Amino acid sequence: MRTKLCNIHIFFMVVMFIATCSYAKVTGQCSNCHTMHNSQNGLSVSKNGPNEELLKDTCIGCHTGTNDGTNNTPYVLSISPPNYGVNGTGTTGNTLAGGNFYWVASSGGGNDRCGHNVQGISPTDATLGLTPPGGSPLSTELTCAGTNGCHGDRSIQDQYKAIYGAHHAHVDSGWQDGSTVAKSYRFLLGIQGMEDPKWEYHPDQYHHNKYYGVDRSTEADVSGTISHLCAECHGYFHHGTGQIAPDIPHGVWLRHPTDFDMNDVKNGTEYQYYNGGTGVDNPYSVISPVATSDTSTTLNTVVYHQSGDAIVMCLSCHRAHGSPYPAILRWNYKAWPGPGGYNGCAVCHTAKN
Ligand code: HEC
Ligand code: HEC
Ligand code: HEC
Ligand code: HEC
Ligand code: HEC
Repeated sequence: MRTKLCNIHIFFMVVMFIATCSYAKVTGQCSNCHTMHNSQNGLSVSKNGPNEELLKDTCIGCHTGTNDGTNNTPYVLSISPPNYGVNGTGTTGNTLAGGNFYWVASSGGGNDRCGHNVQGISPTDATLGLTPPGGSPLSTELTCAGTNGCHGDRSIQDQYKAIYGAHHAHVDSGWQDGSTVAKSYRFLLGIQGMEDPKWEYHPDQYHHNKYYGVDRSTEADVSGTISHLCAECHGYFHHGTGQIAPDIPHGVWLRHPTDFDMNDVKNGTEYQYYNGGTGVDNPYSVISPVATSDTSTTLNTVVYHQSGDAIVMCLSCHRAHGSPYPAILRWNYKAWPGPGGYNGCAVCHTAKN
Protein backbone atom coordinates (compact mmCIF):
# COMPACT_ATOMS: atom_id res chain seq x y z
CA MET A 1 0.00 0.00 0.00
CA ARG A 2 2.75 2.31 1.03
CA THR A 3 4.82 1.68 -2.12
CA LYS A 4 1.76 2.16 -4.27
CA LEU A 5 1.10 5.59 -2.78
CA CYS A 6 4.74 6.38 -3.20
CA ASN A 7 4.66 5.33 -6.85
CA ILE A 8 1.62 7.46 -7.47
CA HIS A 9 3.41 10.31 -5.80
CA ILE A 10 6.48 9.90 -7.98
CA PHE A 11 4.28 9.51 -11.02
CA PHE A 12 2.62 12.87 -10.34
CA MET A 13 5.94 14.52 -9.62
CA VAL A 14 7.25 13.31 -12.97
CA VAL A 15 4.11 14.49 -14.73
CA MET A 16 4.38 17.86 -13.06
CA PHE A 17 8.07 18.11 -13.95
CA ILE A 18 7.42 17.28 -17.60
CA ALA A 19 4.50 19.69 -17.66
CA THR A 20 6.64 22.49 -16.21
CA CYS A 21 9.47 21.82 -18.65
CA SER A 22 7.30 21.67 -21.72
CA TYR A 23 5.75 25.05 -20.91
CA ALA A 24 9.03 26.89 -20.40
CA LYS A 25 9.30 28.96 -23.51
CA VAL A 26 12.98 29.17 -24.41
CA THR A 27 14.17 25.71 -25.43
CA GLY A 28 17.12 24.19 -27.27
CA GLN A 29 20.87 24.04 -26.79
CA CYS A 30 22.39 26.88 -24.84
CA SER A 31 24.84 27.53 -27.65
CA ASN A 32 21.99 28.33 -30.05
CA CYS A 33 21.59 31.59 -28.20
CA HIS A 34 24.58 32.07 -25.92
CA THR A 35 28.35 32.23 -26.37
CA MET A 36 30.62 31.80 -23.37
CA HIS A 37 33.59 33.91 -24.46
CA ASN A 38 32.41 35.32 -27.78
CA SER A 39 35.24 33.45 -29.37
CA GLN A 40 35.45 30.36 -31.58
CA ASN A 41 38.78 29.47 -33.21
CA GLY A 42 39.85 32.92 -32.16
CA LEU A 43 37.07 34.61 -34.10
CA SER A 44 34.13 36.57 -32.72
CA VAL A 45 30.89 34.55 -32.56
CA SER A 46 28.39 37.33 -32.11
CA LYS A 47 27.52 39.72 -34.92
CA ASN A 48 27.39 42.70 -32.58
CA GLY A 49 29.08 41.33 -29.50
CA PRO A 50 30.13 40.65 -26.95
CA ASN A 51 26.54 41.11 -25.80
CA GLU A 52 25.06 41.30 -22.34
CA GLU A 53 23.88 37.99 -20.83
CA LEU A 54 26.43 36.24 -23.12
CA LEU A 55 23.92 36.45 -25.96
CA LYS A 56 24.93 35.70 -29.52
CA ASP A 57 22.70 38.46 -30.85
CA THR A 58 20.70 41.52 -29.80
CA CYS A 59 16.95 41.84 -29.22
CA ILE A 60 16.53 43.12 -32.76
CA GLY A 61 18.90 40.55 -34.26
CA CYS A 62 17.08 37.57 -32.74
CA HIS A 63 13.65 39.02 -33.48
CA THR A 64 14.29 39.70 -37.19
CA GLY A 65 12.95 37.19 -39.70
CA THR A 66 9.91 36.03 -41.62
CA ASN A 67 7.04 34.43 -39.72
CA ASP A 68 5.85 31.20 -41.30
CA GLY A 69 3.88 29.62 -38.47
CA THR A 70 6.69 27.26 -37.46
CA ASN A 71 9.16 29.79 -36.03
CA ASN A 72 9.75 29.63 -32.27
CA THR A 73 10.96 33.21 -32.11
CA PRO A 74 8.35 35.88 -32.77
CA TYR A 75 9.66 38.07 -35.60
CA VAL A 76 8.77 41.74 -35.40
CA LEU A 77 11.11 43.06 -38.08
CA SER A 78 11.01 41.49 -41.52
CA ILE A 79 13.29 42.25 -44.43
CA SER A 80 10.58 41.97 -47.09
CA PRO A 81 7.12 43.56 -46.71
CA PRO A 82 4.79 41.38 -44.62
CA ASN A 83 1.26 40.98 -45.89
CA TYR A 84 -1.72 42.02 -43.76
CA GLY A 85 -4.39 41.78 -46.46
CA VAL A 86 -6.92 44.51 -47.21
CA ASN A 87 -8.75 44.42 -43.86
CA GLY A 88 -5.45 44.46 -41.97
CA THR A 89 -5.90 41.18 -40.12
CA GLY A 90 -3.16 39.04 -41.60
CA THR A 91 -5.45 36.02 -41.59
CA THR A 92 -3.43 34.52 -44.44
CA GLY A 93 -0.24 36.60 -44.20
CA ASN A 94 3.09 36.36 -42.42
CA THR A 95 2.35 38.86 -39.67
CA LEU A 96 1.88 38.79 -35.91
CA ALA A 97 -0.37 40.71 -33.49
CA GLY A 98 2.17 43.36 -32.52
CA GLY A 99 2.69 44.41 -36.10
CA ASN A 100 6.00 44.81 -37.89
CA PHE A 101 8.71 47.45 -37.95
CA TYR A 102 9.31 46.84 -41.66
CA TRP A 103 7.61 50.03 -42.85
CA VAL A 104 9.29 52.38 -40.35
CA ALA A 105 12.72 50.69 -40.65
CA SER A 106 15.46 52.28 -42.71
CA SER A 107 15.93 48.85 -44.29
CA GLY A 108 12.24 48.83 -45.34
CA GLY A 109 9.81 51.63 -46.11
CA GLY A 110 11.54 54.22 -43.92
CA ASN A 111 8.19 55.90 -43.23
CA ASP A 112 8.18 57.57 -39.80
CA ARG A 113 4.38 57.54 -39.61
CA CYS A 114 4.13 53.77 -39.95
CA GLY A 115 5.66 52.68 -36.68
CA HIS A 116 7.49 53.40 -33.46
CA ASN A 117 11.00 54.57 -34.32
CA VAL A 118 13.19 52.20 -32.33
CA GLN A 119 16.96 52.58 -31.90
CA GLY A 120 18.78 50.22 -34.25
CA ILE A 121 15.76 49.98 -36.56
CA SER A 122 15.26 53.54 -37.72
CA PRO A 123 16.51 57.03 -36.86
CA THR A 124 14.53 59.29 -34.49
CA ASP A 125 11.11 60.33 -35.87
CA ALA A 126 11.76 63.53 -37.86
CA THR A 127 8.41 65.07 -36.85
CA LEU A 128 7.70 63.73 -33.36
CA GLY A 129 11.28 63.51 -32.08
CA LEU A 130 11.46 62.00 -28.61
CA THR A 131 7.97 63.12 -27.57
CA PRO A 132 5.12 60.63 -27.52
CA PRO A 133 1.98 62.61 -28.47
CA GLY A 134 -0.09 63.02 -25.29
CA GLY A 135 2.94 62.63 -23.00
CA SER A 136 6.40 63.94 -22.05
CA PRO A 137 9.65 63.50 -23.97
CA LEU A 138 11.81 60.43 -23.41
CA SER A 139 15.53 60.87 -22.68
CA THR A 140 16.67 58.85 -25.74
CA GLU A 141 15.12 57.32 -28.82
CA LEU A 142 12.82 54.38 -28.07
CA THR A 143 14.45 51.05 -27.21
CA CYS A 144 12.76 47.62 -27.09
CA ALA A 145 12.89 47.43 -23.30
CA GLY A 146 13.87 49.48 -20.25
CA THR A 147 13.08 53.07 -19.23
CA ASN A 148 12.80 54.32 -22.81
CA GLY A 149 11.14 51.19 -24.08
CA CYS A 150 7.96 49.19 -23.66
CA HIS A 151 9.08 45.69 -22.56
CA GLY A 152 10.44 44.71 -19.19
CA ASP A 153 10.77 46.80 -16.05
CA ARG A 154 10.57 50.42 -17.15
CA SER A 155 12.22 51.62 -13.94
CA ILE A 156 15.49 50.06 -15.16
CA GLN A 157 17.39 51.93 -17.87
CA ASP A 158 19.35 49.05 -19.45
CA GLN A 159 17.14 46.91 -21.65
CA TYR A 160 18.76 43.55 -20.87
CA LYS A 161 18.66 44.24 -17.12
CA ALA A 162 15.05 45.32 -17.52
CA ILE A 163 14.06 41.97 -19.01
CA TYR A 164 16.56 39.80 -17.07
CA GLY A 165 15.34 36.23 -16.53
CA ALA A 166 12.06 36.62 -18.42
CA HIS A 167 12.91 34.47 -21.47
CA HIS A 168 13.65 31.39 -19.36
CA ALA A 169 11.03 31.91 -16.64
CA HIS A 170 8.08 32.71 -18.88
CA VAL A 171 5.20 30.26 -18.93
CA ASP A 172 3.38 30.44 -22.19
CA SER A 173 -0.08 29.42 -20.99
CA GLY A 174 -2.62 30.71 -18.50
CA TRP A 175 -3.40 34.20 -17.32
CA GLN A 176 -0.42 36.55 -17.11
CA ASP A 177 -1.10 38.47 -13.89
CA GLY A 178 1.58 41.13 -14.32
CA SER A 179 3.31 40.37 -11.01
CA THR A 180 6.82 39.97 -12.52
CA VAL A 181 8.26 40.62 -16.00
CA ALA A 182 8.07 36.90 -16.81
CA LYS A 183 4.45 36.79 -15.64
CA SER A 184 3.40 39.88 -17.55
CA TYR A 185 1.64 39.86 -20.87
CA ARG A 186 4.48 39.76 -23.47
CA PHE A 187 7.06 40.82 -20.84
CA LEU A 188 5.28 44.21 -20.45
CA LEU A 189 5.71 44.62 -16.70
CA GLY A 190 2.38 44.97 -14.89
CA ILE A 191 0.22 44.35 -17.96
CA GLN A 192 -2.23 41.44 -17.76
CA GLY A 193 -3.67 39.20 -20.45
CA MET A 194 -3.55 35.79 -22.06
CA GLU A 195 -1.21 35.05 -24.93
CA ASP A 196 -1.96 33.33 -28.18
CA PRO A 197 0.90 30.79 -28.40
CA LYS A 198 1.47 31.70 -32.06
CA TRP A 199 1.42 35.46 -31.38
CA GLU A 200 -1.65 35.66 -33.66
CA TYR A 201 -0.14 34.10 -36.74
CA HIS A 202 -3.28 33.67 -38.91
CA PRO A 203 -5.72 34.83 -36.22
CA ASP A 204 -9.46 34.18 -36.24
CA GLN A 205 -12.38 34.30 -33.81
CA TYR A 206 -11.02 31.26 -31.98
CA HIS A 207 -7.28 32.00 -32.12
CA HIS A 208 -6.13 35.32 -30.71
CA ASN A 209 -4.70 37.11 -27.70
CA LYS A 210 -6.98 37.92 -24.80
CA TYR A 211 -6.43 41.58 -23.97
CA TYR A 212 -7.17 42.98 -20.54
CA GLY A 213 -9.33 46.10 -20.17
CA VAL A 214 -11.34 47.75 -17.42
CA ASP A 215 -14.62 49.63 -17.63
CA ARG A 216 -14.00 53.10 -16.23
CA SER A 217 -16.55 55.54 -14.90
CA THR A 218 -14.08 58.42 -14.44
CA GLU A 219 -11.16 59.96 -16.32
CA ALA A 220 -8.70 58.48 -13.79
CA ASP A 221 -5.97 56.06 -14.85
CA VAL A 222 -6.34 52.33 -14.36
CA SER A 223 -3.33 50.01 -14.35
CA GLY A 224 -2.81 46.53 -15.74
CA THR A 225 -4.71 47.08 -18.97
CA ILE A 226 -3.19 46.99 -22.44
CA SER A 227 -4.32 50.60 -22.95
CA HIS A 228 -2.52 51.57 -19.74
CA LEU A 229 0.69 50.33 -21.35
CA CYS A 230 0.28 52.89 -24.13
CA ALA A 231 -0.73 55.47 -21.52
CA GLU A 232 2.61 55.06 -19.74
CA CYS A 233 3.91 57.30 -22.54
CA HIS A 234 0.78 58.68 -24.28
CA GLY A 235 -1.00 59.60 -21.01
CA TYR A 236 -3.58 62.15 -22.13
CA PHE A 237 -4.86 59.88 -24.88
CA HIS A 238 -6.07 57.55 -22.12
CA HIS A 239 -6.63 59.50 -18.88
CA GLY A 240 -6.34 62.90 -17.19
CA THR A 241 -8.76 65.47 -15.83
CA GLY A 242 -10.59 67.24 -18.63
CA GLN A 243 -8.82 65.11 -21.25
CA ILE A 244 -11.27 62.32 -22.10
CA ALA A 245 -14.88 63.16 -21.23
CA PRO A 246 -15.76 64.96 -18.00
CA ASP A 247 -19.13 63.21 -17.76
CA ILE A 248 -18.12 59.57 -18.39
CA PRO A 249 -19.91 57.22 -18.89
CA HIS A 250 -22.45 59.31 -20.78
CA GLY A 251 -19.84 61.40 -22.49
CA VAL A 252 -19.69 63.65 -25.40
CA TRP A 253 -16.10 62.65 -25.81
CA LEU A 254 -13.01 64.87 -26.03
CA ARG A 255 -10.80 61.97 -27.10
CA HIS A 256 -11.86 58.57 -28.37
CA PRO A 257 -12.87 56.36 -25.44
CA THR A 258 -10.59 53.50 -24.32
CA ASP A 259 -11.03 51.29 -21.26
CA PHE A 260 -14.76 51.83 -21.85
CA ASP A 261 -17.25 48.95 -22.02
CA MET A 262 -19.66 48.96 -24.98
CA ASN A 263 -22.07 46.87 -22.88
CA ASP A 264 -22.93 50.19 -21.17
CA VAL A 265 -24.31 51.71 -24.38
CA LYS A 266 -25.08 48.85 -26.74
CA ASN A 267 -28.84 48.54 -26.28
CA GLY A 268 -30.65 50.21 -29.15
CA THR A 269 -27.47 51.77 -30.58
CA GLU A 270 -25.18 50.94 -33.48
CA TYR A 271 -22.74 49.24 -31.05
CA GLN A 272 -25.29 46.45 -30.49
CA TYR A 273 -24.39 45.09 -33.92
CA TYR A 274 -20.60 44.92 -33.31
CA ASN A 275 -19.02 42.70 -35.96
CA GLY A 276 -22.33 41.66 -37.51
CA GLY A 277 -23.90 40.28 -34.33
CA THR A 278 -27.23 40.94 -32.63
CA GLY A 279 -26.14 42.20 -29.22
CA VAL A 280 -25.77 38.82 -27.51
CA ASP A 281 -22.69 36.66 -28.07
CA ASN A 282 -21.49 38.62 -31.12
CA PRO A 283 -18.41 37.08 -32.75
CA TYR A 284 -15.02 38.48 -31.62
CA SER A 285 -13.43 40.53 -34.40
CA VAL A 286 -9.76 40.32 -35.37
CA ILE A 287 -10.23 43.44 -37.54
CA SER A 288 -11.07 45.58 -34.52
CA PRO A 289 -10.65 43.53 -31.35
CA VAL A 290 -11.89 44.48 -27.89
CA ALA A 291 -10.45 43.86 -24.44
CA THR A 292 -12.18 42.18 -21.49
CA SER A 293 -12.08 42.46 -17.71
CA ASP A 294 -12.53 38.68 -17.41
CA THR A 295 -9.29 37.22 -16.05
CA SER A 296 -10.26 33.58 -16.47
CA THR A 297 -8.37 31.36 -18.91
CA THR A 298 -11.44 30.93 -21.12
CA LEU A 299 -10.79 32.59 -24.48
CA ASN A 300 -13.18 35.43 -25.32
CA THR A 301 -14.48 34.14 -28.64
CA VAL A 302 -17.73 36.10 -28.25
CA VAL A 303 -18.49 39.67 -27.18
CA TYR A 304 -21.60 40.77 -25.19
CA HIS A 305 -21.70 37.55 -23.21
CA GLN A 306 -21.16 39.29 -19.88
CA SER A 307 -20.54 42.83 -18.72
CA GLY A 308 -16.95 44.03 -19.13
CA ASP A 309 -16.28 41.95 -22.25
CA ALA A 310 -16.57 44.71 -24.90
CA ILE A 311 -13.89 47.17 -23.89
CA VAL A 312 -12.53 49.60 -26.46
CA MET A 313 -8.72 49.75 -26.28
CA CYS A 314 -5.84 51.44 -28.12
CA LEU A 315 -5.31 48.18 -30.01
CA SER A 316 -8.90 48.25 -31.32
CA CYS A 317 -7.48 50.67 -33.92
CA HIS A 318 -3.66 50.53 -33.62
CA ARG A 319 -0.88 47.97 -33.76
CA ALA A 320 1.96 48.32 -31.27
CA HIS A 321 5.13 48.07 -33.37
CA GLY A 322 4.29 49.19 -36.88
CA SER A 323 1.88 48.70 -39.76
CA PRO A 324 1.71 49.67 -43.45
CA TYR A 325 -0.55 52.60 -42.51
CA PRO A 326 0.03 56.06 -41.04
CA ALA A 327 -0.48 56.38 -37.26
CA ILE A 328 0.25 52.64 -37.00
CA LEU A 329 -3.42 51.90 -37.70
CA ARG A 330 -4.70 48.38 -38.18
CA TRP A 331 -6.33 49.16 -41.51
CA ASN A 332 -6.01 51.78 -44.25
CA TYR A 333 -8.24 54.47 -42.72
CA LYS A 334 -6.92 57.29 -44.89
CA ALA A 335 -7.54 55.58 -48.24
CA TRP A 336 -11.13 54.61 -47.45
CA PRO A 337 -13.53 54.77 -49.32
CA GLY A 338 -11.01 54.71 -52.18
CA PRO A 339 -9.36 51.57 -53.52
CA GLY A 340 -7.26 49.71 -50.96
CA GLY A 341 -8.91 51.63 -48.14
CA TYR A 342 -10.80 49.93 -45.33
CA ASN A 343 -13.27 51.21 -42.76
CA GLY A 344 -12.47 49.19 -39.65
CA CYS A 345 -14.33 51.81 -37.58
CA ALA A 346 -17.54 50.20 -38.86
CA VAL A 347 -16.91 47.03 -36.88
CA CYS A 348 -18.27 49.10 -33.95
CA HIS A 349 -19.83 52.13 -35.66
CA THR A 350 -22.06 49.81 -37.63
CA ALA A 351 -24.34 52.62 -38.83
CA LYS A 352 -21.41 54.61 -40.25
CA ASN A 353 -20.28 52.70 -43.26
C1 HEC B 1 16.37 30.24 -27.86
C2 HEC B 1 17.39 31.04 -27.23
C3 HEC B 1 17.97 30.60 -25.91
C4 HEC B 1 18.42 29.36 -25.54
C5 HEC B 1 18.40 28.09 -26.35
C6 HEC B 1 18.97 29.51 -24.21
N1 HEC B 1 18.84 30.80 -23.79
FE1 HEC B 1 19.51 31.58 -22.03
N2 HEC B 1 18.71 33.38 -22.54
C7 HEC B 1 18.14 33.69 -23.75
C8 HEC B 1 17.81 35.09 -23.79
C9 HEC B 1 17.15 35.82 -24.96
C10 HEC B 1 18.24 35.63 -22.58
C11 HEC B 1 18.26 37.10 -22.18
C12 HEC B 1 16.95 37.73 -21.91
C13 HEC B 1 16.35 37.37 -20.58
O1 HEC B 1 17.05 37.35 -19.55
O2 HEC B 1 15.13 37.13 -20.60
C14 HEC B 1 18.77 34.53 -21.79
C15 HEC B 1 19.27 34.63 -20.49
C16 HEC B 1 19.94 33.63 -19.82
C17 HEC B 1 20.47 33.76 -18.49
C18 HEC B 1 20.37 34.97 -17.59
C19 HEC B 1 18.95 35.19 -17.10
C20 HEC B 1 18.34 34.01 -16.38
O3 HEC B 1 17.26 33.56 -16.80
O4 HEC B 1 18.93 33.48 -15.43
C21 HEC B 1 21.07 32.55 -18.20
C22 HEC B 1 21.79 32.20 -16.94
C23 HEC B 1 20.89 31.69 -19.35
N3 HEC B 1 20.18 32.37 -20.29
C24 HEC B 1 21.36 30.40 -19.43
C25 HEC B 1 21.03 29.50 -20.43
C26 HEC B 1 21.41 28.12 -20.45
C27 HEC B 1 22.25 27.44 -19.40
C28 HEC B 1 20.90 27.58 -21.59
C29 HEC B 1 20.93 26.14 -22.08
C30 HEC B 1 20.40 25.16 -21.16
C31 HEC B 1 20.21 28.63 -22.28
N4 HEC B 1 20.31 29.78 -21.55
C32 HEC B 1 19.55 28.48 -23.49
C33 HEC B 1 17.89 32.82 -24.79
C34 HEC B 1 18.23 31.50 -24.80
C1 HEC C 1 19.12 34.94 -28.47
C2 HEC C 1 17.93 35.39 -29.14
C3 HEC C 1 17.05 36.36 -28.39
C4 HEC C 1 17.40 37.58 -27.86
C5 HEC C 1 18.77 38.22 -27.80
C6 HEC C 1 16.18 38.16 -27.39
N1 HEC C 1 15.13 37.34 -27.59
FE1 HEC C 1 13.19 37.71 -27.13
N2 HEC C 1 12.68 35.83 -27.69
C7 HEC C 1 13.55 34.90 -28.20
C8 HEC C 1 12.84 33.65 -28.37
C9 HEC C 1 13.43 32.35 -28.90
C10 HEC C 1 11.53 33.89 -27.93
C11 HEC C 1 10.39 32.89 -27.92
C12 HEC C 1 10.34 32.21 -26.63
C13 HEC C 1 9.12 32.62 -25.98
O1 HEC C 1 8.06 32.47 -26.60
O2 HEC C 1 9.17 33.13 -24.85
C14 HEC C 1 11.46 35.27 -27.52
C15 HEC C 1 10.31 35.88 -27.04
C16 HEC C 1 10.22 37.23 -26.76
C17 HEC C 1 9.00 37.91 -26.45
C18 HEC C 1 7.61 37.32 -26.43
C19 HEC C 1 7.33 36.58 -25.19
C20 HEC C 1 5.96 35.97 -25.26
O3 HEC C 1 5.11 36.38 -24.47
O4 HEC C 1 5.68 35.14 -26.09
C21 HEC C 1 9.34 39.21 -26.20
C22 HEC C 1 8.39 40.32 -25.84
C23 HEC C 1 10.76 39.33 -26.37
N3 HEC C 1 11.27 38.11 -26.71
C24 HEC C 1 11.45 40.50 -26.21
C25 HEC C 1 12.83 40.58 -26.25
C26 HEC C 1 13.60 41.77 -25.89
C27 HEC C 1 13.02 43.10 -25.50
C28 HEC C 1 14.92 41.46 -26.03
C29 HEC C 1 16.13 42.30 -25.72
C30 HEC C 1 16.20 42.93 -24.41
C31 HEC C 1 14.97 40.09 -26.51
N4 HEC C 1 13.69 39.59 -26.61
C32 HEC C 1 16.13 39.40 -26.80
C33 HEC C 1 14.85 35.10 -28.54
C34 HEC C 1 15.62 36.20 -28.20
C1 HEC D 1 7.92 53.91 -23.91
C2 HEC D 1 7.04 54.92 -24.41
C3 HEC D 1 5.93 54.53 -25.36
C4 HEC D 1 4.95 53.57 -25.19
C5 HEC D 1 4.76 52.65 -24.00
C6 HEC D 1 4.10 53.66 -26.34
N1 HEC D 1 4.55 54.63 -27.20
FE1 HEC D 1 3.66 55.26 -28.90
N2 HEC D 1 5.15 56.62 -29.21
C7 HEC D 1 6.20 56.84 -28.36
C8 HEC D 1 7.07 57.85 -28.92
C9 HEC D 1 8.36 58.38 -28.30
C10 HEC D 1 6.49 58.25 -30.13
C11 HEC D 1 7.00 59.32 -31.11
C12 HEC D 1 8.18 58.84 -31.90
C13 HEC D 1 7.86 57.70 -32.80
O1 HEC D 1 6.93 57.79 -33.62
O2 HEC D 1 8.52 56.68 -32.65
C14 HEC D 1 5.29 57.45 -30.30
C15 HEC D 1 4.43 57.52 -31.39
C16 HEC D 1 3.25 56.82 -31.51
C17 HEC D 1 2.33 56.93 -32.60
C18 HEC D 1 2.49 57.85 -33.79
C19 HEC D 1 3.37 57.22 -34.83
C20 HEC D 1 3.69 58.18 -35.93
O3 HEC D 1 4.87 58.31 -36.25
O4 HEC D 1 2.77 58.81 -36.44
C21 HEC D 1 1.30 56.07 -32.36
C22 HEC D 1 0.09 55.84 -33.23
C23 HEC D 1 1.57 55.40 -31.12
N3 HEC D 1 2.77 55.89 -30.61
C24 HEC D 1 0.76 54.46 -30.54
C25 HEC D 1 1.08 53.72 -29.40
C26 HEC D 1 0.29 52.63 -28.90
C27 HEC D 1 -1.00 52.13 -29.52
C28 HEC D 1 0.91 52.18 -27.78
C29 HEC D 1 0.52 51.01 -26.92
C30 HEC D 1 0.44 49.73 -27.59
C31 HEC D 1 2.10 53.00 -27.59
N4 HEC D 1 2.17 53.91 -28.59
C32 HEC D 1 3.00 52.85 -26.55
C33 HEC D 1 6.42 56.22 -27.15
C34 HEC D 1 5.67 55.19 -26.63
C1 HEC E 1 -11.13 54.42 -32.37
C2 HEC E 1 -9.86 54.16 -32.93
C3 HEC E 1 -8.69 54.59 -32.10
C4 HEC E 1 -8.44 54.28 -30.78
C5 HEC E 1 -9.26 53.44 -29.85
C6 HEC E 1 -7.16 54.89 -30.48
N1 HEC E 1 -6.68 55.56 -31.57
FE1 HEC E 1 -4.95 56.57 -31.70
N2 HEC E 1 -5.41 57.19 -33.57
C7 HEC E 1 -6.52 56.78 -34.29
C8 HEC E 1 -6.53 57.43 -35.58
C9 HEC E 1 -7.56 57.25 -36.67
C10 HEC E 1 -5.36 58.25 -35.63
C11 HEC E 1 -4.89 59.11 -36.81
C12 HEC E 1 -5.10 60.56 -36.54
C13 HEC E 1 -6.54 60.94 -36.54
O1 HEC E 1 -7.24 60.63 -37.49
O2 HEC E 1 -6.96 61.54 -35.53
C14 HEC E 1 -4.70 58.08 -34.35
C15 HEC E 1 -3.52 58.70 -34.00
C16 HEC E 1 -2.78 58.40 -32.85
C17 HEC E 1 -1.50 58.94 -32.51
C18 HEC E 1 -0.68 59.93 -33.36
C19 HEC E 1 -1.00 61.34 -32.96
C20 HEC E 1 -0.16 62.35 -33.70
O3 HEC E 1 0.01 63.45 -33.15
O4 HEC E 1 0.30 62.07 -34.82
C21 HEC E 1 -1.12 58.40 -31.33
C22 HEC E 1 0.15 58.65 -30.56
C23 HEC E 1 -2.20 57.53 -30.90
N3 HEC E 1 -3.19 57.57 -31.84
C24 HEC E 1 -2.18 56.81 -29.72
C25 HEC E 1 -3.29 56.15 -29.20
C26 HEC E 1 -3.35 55.60 -27.87
C27 HEC E 1 -2.24 55.64 -26.88
C28 HEC E 1 -4.59 55.05 -27.72
C29 HEC E 1 -5.17 54.40 -26.50
C30 HEC E 1 -5.13 55.20 -25.28
C31 HEC E 1 -5.28 55.25 -28.98
N4 HEC E 1 -4.47 55.93 -29.83
C32 HEC E 1 -6.56 54.79 -29.24
C33 HEC E 1 -7.47 55.89 -33.86
C34 HEC E 1 -7.59 55.40 -32.58
C1 HEC F 1 -13.95 48.87 -30.75
C2 HEC F 1 -15.09 49.70 -31.07
C3 HEC F 1 -14.85 51.02 -31.75
C4 HEC F 1 -14.08 51.27 -32.86
C5 HEC F 1 -13.25 50.29 -33.66
C6 HEC F 1 -14.22 52.66 -33.13
N1 HEC F 1 -15.05 53.24 -32.23
FE1 HEC F 1 -15.55 55.20 -32.14
N2 HEC F 1 -16.58 54.89 -30.43
C7 HEC F 1 -16.80 53.68 -29.85
C8 HEC F 1 -17.59 53.86 -28.65
C9 HEC F 1 -18.08 52.76 -27.72
C10 HEC F 1 -17.80 55.25 -28.51
C11 HEC F 1 -18.56 55.97 -27.37
C12 HEC F 1 -20.03 55.71 -27.44
C13 HEC F 1 -20.84 56.42 -26.38
O1 HEC F 1 -20.30 57.08 -25.51
O2 HEC F 1 -22.05 56.28 -26.45
C14 HEC F 1 -17.15 55.87 -29.65
C15 HEC F 1 -17.15 57.23 -29.89
C16 HEC F 1 -16.71 57.81 -31.07
C17 HEC F 1 -16.87 59.20 -31.40
C18 HEC F 1 -17.39 60.29 -30.45
C19 HEC F 1 -18.84 60.35 -30.29
C20 HEC F 1 -19.21 61.21 -29.08
O3 HEC F 1 -20.20 60.83 -28.48
O4 HEC F 1 -18.53 62.16 -28.70
C21 HEC F 1 -16.36 59.36 -32.67
C22 HEC F 1 -16.33 60.64 -33.50
C23 HEC F 1 -15.84 58.07 -33.10
N3 HEC F 1 -16.08 57.16 -32.10
C24 HEC F 1 -15.21 57.82 -34.30
C25 HEC F 1 -14.53 56.65 -34.62
C26 HEC F 1 -13.68 56.48 -35.79
C27 HEC F 1 -13.40 57.51 -36.85
C28 HEC F 1 -13.20 55.21 -35.72
C29 HEC F 1 -12.21 54.53 -36.65
C30 HEC F 1 -10.93 55.20 -36.80
C31 HEC F 1 -13.77 54.61 -34.54
N4 HEC F 1 -14.55 55.51 -33.89
C32 HEC F 1 -13.57 53.29 -34.19
C33 HEC F 1 -16.36 52.45 -30.31
C34 HEC F 1 -15.48 52.27 -31.37
